[in-house]
Order: sequence, then structure tokens, then C-alpha cells
Amino acid sequence: MQDISTRGFMQLLARYGAPDYFVTEFFRVHSTSRLDAEILSCLTHNETGRPVFAQIIGEDIPAMAAAARELARLPAAGVDLNLGCPAPKVFRKNVGGGLLRDLPQVDALLGALRDALPETKLTVKTRVGFDAAKDPPALFDTLLALVNKHGVDLLAVHGRTVRGLYRSAVDYAAIAHAVRTARCPVVANGDITSAAKAAHVAAETACAGLMAGRHAVRNPWLFRQIREHFAGLPVFRPTLADVRSYIGELAAMLRDSDPAVTSARLAARMKKFLNFVGAGVDPAGAFLAAMRRAEDEAALMQVCDTHLLAGDKAGELFADEPYAGAVSRPNCE
Ligand SMILES: Cc1cc2nc3c(=O)[nH]c(=O)nc-3n(C[C@H](O)[C@H](O)[C@H](O)COP(=O)(O)O)c2cc1C
Repeated sequence: MQDISTRGFMQLLARYGAPDYFVTEFFRVHSTSRLDAEILSCLTHNETGRPVFAQIIGEDIPAMAAAARELARLPAAGVDLNLGCPAPKVFRKNVGGGLLRDLPQVDALLGALRDALPETKLTVKTRVGFDAAKDPPALFDTLLALVNKHGVDLLAVHGRTVRGLYRSAVDYAAIAHAVRTARCPVVANGDITSAAKAAHVAAETACAGLMAGRHAVRNPWLFRQIREHFAGLPVFRPTLADVRSYIGELAAMLRDSDPAVTSARLAARMKKFLNFVGAGVDPAGAFLAAMRRAEDEAALMQVCDTHLLAGDKAGELFADEPYAGAVSRPNCE
């Protein structure tokens, strides 16, 4: 996830209960681009103990193939093509989710990437379409046929269209259809909010795996909880004091990755994470409103102390599911 899945955050998350694999932020690839050094460090200095896939986004076929070849020489678990980014500034350039309007280009791109990666895993992260009201009826089936044609090794499906951003209902039936149609393992993505929801989606879709984005930022214990749930073990329930300690670790991680960061800049970086954490703190979104007003690190931490530790709050359980009224809805990926 852009601005979230940094090397430091992956390491931090791994301490709370790592997912089976990570995916980097996307490398934006075009004819004159070079692979971003910060994102590369997630591959070259991977201390998570888990494989890390490198995600690329772009539509320039020679440049994408060259980037894939370069990544294959690094310790990347595989190369992942982004076909889902819904940010208008991205899809208008016909990359990310924009490519779902041009499946002949996806065909050519997947062919070139497969050729560039004879011994490296090629994975795809996609949405189920561009715009449900305008897409040709067979769009998703055509995409799945391309996934099969080019021997894609794993497909992650975010069950929304590009126009659905993060708001529309997730179409788990479409993910189940992908599971039945694709010859590779299919990973279900979109609103895997809790261990209970993970079990529900796994049963409904028969997917090979589950992918979590925002909800693993809100609740870094999510992957551990999912494992415990599937193993029939008691599921860990963090308290608000545990969440306050996670927030402290986030701040320390951001400072470690940029020792010269100012207090105001650190607060701004923290808010990107707290926008998600806040969805589990209180139903009315009081924490979210207060933390957004904080202008420096000290003020932000004071807000966290007030909402997570003061009075009897420290011992309260962190909500399993996000509060509907408090979910943050970014408009870009
Ligand atoms: C801030 C933000 C950044 C994201 N960046 C990426 C990205 O770089 N690549 C990608 O494939 N998906 C990206 N996503 C999408 C998530 O991976 C995921 O598909 C989506 O949020 C739905 O899953 P969730 O309900 O678990 O969040 C991003 C989402 C958010 C909210």
C-alpha cells in the first residue's frame, strides 16, 4: 500500500503476526523511470522472515519487461502487476485500474512479463472491472482467460470495480467465480476486516488465500488472529492499551526510518496510519476527529493517551470490526 507498506512497517507488522507474504508499494514504471530506492530496500533488506513480492504499475511494455527482469535479479519472491489502482491521476494514464479498459494491452503486457520472468513468479492484483454500468459483460471473464493464457502464478482479486473505489460492496461472488475459472491460486481481497470475516469469505469463495490492506493497518494482530481462528485456538483480543503501544511503535518506526523528520512531519506521516487505526477506537469517530487536529507529535500522542489510556479505557477491548461511522475512505490507491 502506497505510503504504508514501507520496509519499516512490514518489519513492525511481522512482529505482531506476519502474513504469509508481503507485497511492496508499487514501482511506477515508464520509459525513463528507475526503480525507486526506498521500495527496493524492502527486497534487498527484507527482515520480515517472509517472502516479499515486488509490485509494478505501468503500461509501457518494454519498460515494464525491463523492470521485471531487473526485479527478478533481486531477492523478490515474484513480480506483481497492478491492475487495480483507482486514483484518477493513475487510471487516466491507462495504468493500474485504467488498464481494465484495454484488455488487448493487458494481453500484450502479460505476455511480455511472462517472457521476462521465465523462472520467477508472475502474479496479478486486479479489481473485477472498471465500471459495472459500462463494462462489456464479459470483461472479467476475458481477463481471467488472459490470466490462464499467460500462466500467471497467482491472482489476487479485490472484489470491487475501479469506480467502486473503497466504498462499494465487495463482490465475493465474482471472487468465487475467479476461483472456479483461474487455473492458478486466487487470493480474495476487500474488507477482510476480522478473523470471523476471513472465515466467512474463505467459505463463500473457496479462495486459496486472503489479502488484507487497511484492516491490517488498523489491527496489526489480524494475521495472527486469522491463523488462531483457523487453527481452532483462542483468538487474541488486544486492549486499547495494546493499541496505544502499537501507535508508539509506529512513531518509533517512522523516526528510525527518517531520523531528521520534524515533529510536524512525523505527525502527518502518523495520521496516514491512524486514519485506519481510528476506525476501531470509538463508534462516533471522536478519536479520528481529535487526532486530525493535532499538529505535532506531542499533541498527537496526547490525543492517543486521552482516547486510549485515560480513565478505564486502557483495559477496554479494541473492537474486532471497524465502526461503520469511523471508517476512513481514501480516494486513491
Ligand atoms: C492508502 C492505500 C494505498 C494502497 N496502495 C496500494 C498499492 O500500492 N498496490 C495495491 O495493489 N493496492 C493498494 N491499495 C489497495 C489495497 O491493497 C486493497 O486492495 C484495498 O484497500 C482493499 O482491501 P482492504 O479492504 O483490506 O483495504 C491501497 C489501499 C489504500 C487504502
